[in-house]
This record gives sequence, C-alpha cells and structure tokens, in this order.
Amino acid sequence: MDKKVTVVGAGNVGATAAQRLAEKELCDVVLVDIIDGLPQGKALDLAEAAPIEKHDAHPTGSNDYTASANSDIVIITAGIPRKPGMSRDDLLSTNAKIMKNVTQQVVEHSPDAVLIIVSNPLDAMCHVAYETSGFPKNRVIGMAGVLDSARFRTFIAMELDVSVENTTAFVLGGHGDTMVPLPRYSTVAGIPITELLPKERIDALVERTANGGAEIVKLLKTGSAFYAPASAAVEMAESILKDRKKILPCAVYLEGEYGFNDLFIGVPVKLGANGVEEIIEITLTAEEKAALEKSADAVRELKELLKKLS
Ligand code: APR
Repeated sequence: MDKKVTVVGAGNVGATAAQRLAEKELCDVVLVDIIDGLPQGKALDLAEAAPIEKHDAHPTGSNDYTASANSDIVIITAGIPRKPGMSRDDLLSTNAKIMKNVTQQVVEHSPDAVLIIVSNPLDAMCHVAYETSGFPKNRVIGMAGVLDSARFRTFIAMELDVSVENTTAFVLGGHGDTMVPLPRYSTVAGIPITELLPKERIDALVERTANGGAEIVKLLKTGSAFYAPASAAVEMAESILKDRKKILPCAVYLEGEYGFNDLFIGVPVKLGANGVEEIIEITLTAEEKAALEKSADAVRELKELLKKLS
C-alpha cells in the first residue's frame, strides 16, 4: 500500500490499533515493541487473518526501528501501566524515559512522520515527544479528546436511547479528571443536548465522561481501556492519511491560542495531510473558560514535575 504506519507498543492499545488500520486498508502496518517476539507474533497473527478479512496491509513486527523506516505516521502507545504501590511521579518518570527513548529512535528512521501520542499521562507525554523529536508542532498530536468525546457521545446516546451516529460532542482540556466536556456544543441530530436534557442529567453524563477511563480500569482490574483508545487513534490517523480535514479535539501545542502558551492541551483542530492544519478557536463562556484554565493548571503541574524529575 502507498502509506505506512508504525505502531510502537504492541500491547492492548497498539495491537488493536494495528488491527483496525489493517482492516480498514489504510496503510501497511508495522508493530514495534521492546519485548522479543511480541510484535512479530501479533503481526503474523494479523497477517494470517488477512486472507479472511481481505486486506493487503502486510502487517509486520519487529524489535528494531529499521522496520519502521519512512513511516507516514507513528502511533506511540509504549509505556507501562501504573502498578500497585507506584506513585504518580514514578509512573510519570518511567513513561517519560520510555517516550524519550522511543521518540529518538522513531525520529531517526522516520524524520517526516506525524506522531500520534497515546501513552499516559497524555499531555505530559506529548511535551516529551515534542521536545525530543524537534518536529514542528503540526506533527506532534496527542490522542485524548477524540476518545473523551466518544465516551460522552456513548453516554448521551444511552441516555436518550438514540443512535450514537446522531450524536456529536466536544471535550476540551487535559486528558484527566479536569477535562472539559462542552454540553453547549454537544448535539443529537444537530440539537444541543442542553435543549434535550435537564441540567442534572447532563452533569451526571459529564461526570461519567470525566471518569470514563477510571470506570473501565475498575471493571477490568488488570488493565485499562483499549478498544475505544485504539479507535480514536485510528480516526486521527485516517483523517491524516486520507487528507480528510476532519475537525477533531486533539492535544496540540498552543502558542497563544485560547490564551495558553507553551502547553499541550485538547482543543478542536483540523487534521489533514500536514497533521494539524488549523487550530479552531471557539468562544467559551466564563464558566467554560474557568474550567479550561483549571485543566491547563493540571497539565502545567505535570510539566513542571517532569522538569524536576529529568
Ligand atoms: N519500547 C517499545 N515498547 C515498549 C517500551 C519501549 N521502551 N516500553 C514498554 N513497551 C511496550 C510494552 O512492552 C507493552 O507491550 O508498550 C506496550 C504497552 O502495552 P500495554 O501494557 O498492553 O498497555 P496498553 O493498554 O496498550 O496502554 C498503552 O496507552 O492508553 C494508554 O494509559 C495507556 O499509557 C498506556 C498506553
């Protein structure tokens, strides 16, 4: 195929993303992981599904980044999950080291790629990838808002018993419990949900969205969400690979937009062949702006912590 995407981290999110990319016939797919045999085994398994799924995405797996050479997009899901007894600082420091190491190797082999960052803590990992890669800001994009918005849409559809296809939603801010779902801009068949639901129900859906990741962790017990995160990363990749210019909420590097500087935070952007092609500034109410400020503070705090730890 004429496009190539590498997924670094062949775990739950990475392998599911690779499967979706292949089955949508978007590109050739390469899986890279540090564990010997894991990316090779999962890629071979995916390749053996290809005759049935009818795609020619030629999945391959490797522990060596030469296999990733000249990728159009690299999706980075590498990292470790938080283990019992591990502090947030330990997780931040470990995953920052992994992100730095992965980014260095990715950049060496794919200097023109667009990076889609998935590893958590997301906004902080975007900073590490941005600084390490030296890439322009349009080519380092964090996956958060698409996932958070999809969760919000799911809960809106459940609440109103309508098709998820009829729903749109916007969630801005950092990828954490300070995220900012925007009910005013969230609709069912074009009708704002503020017209369809009482405030207390909307508040409950907003709360569930903000805790969406934790809800899945609580159920799974030994891992975190991966189907929806993988779908979200692949929607972003598809918009870039096909130059579709979709407007999607993504974590991007702001330089003055929304009043923020030198900060990765989730805002609506246009994704096309050049990665982030436009940052869309929407007017926020005082209340929404205050919530976004609070979310930005949480991201800044992690960024400062990163500096101290490195
Ligand atoms: N280089 C390459 N791969 C690595 C490295 C590294 N330095 N360190 C860890 N990995 C790999 C692991 O070997 C593992 O296969 O990253 C993979 C992570 O997979 P999982 O543990 O299954 O985690 P997953 O559920 O896929 O989540 C990955 O995405 O949504 C986020 O919070 C989540 O940060 C986490 C990431």
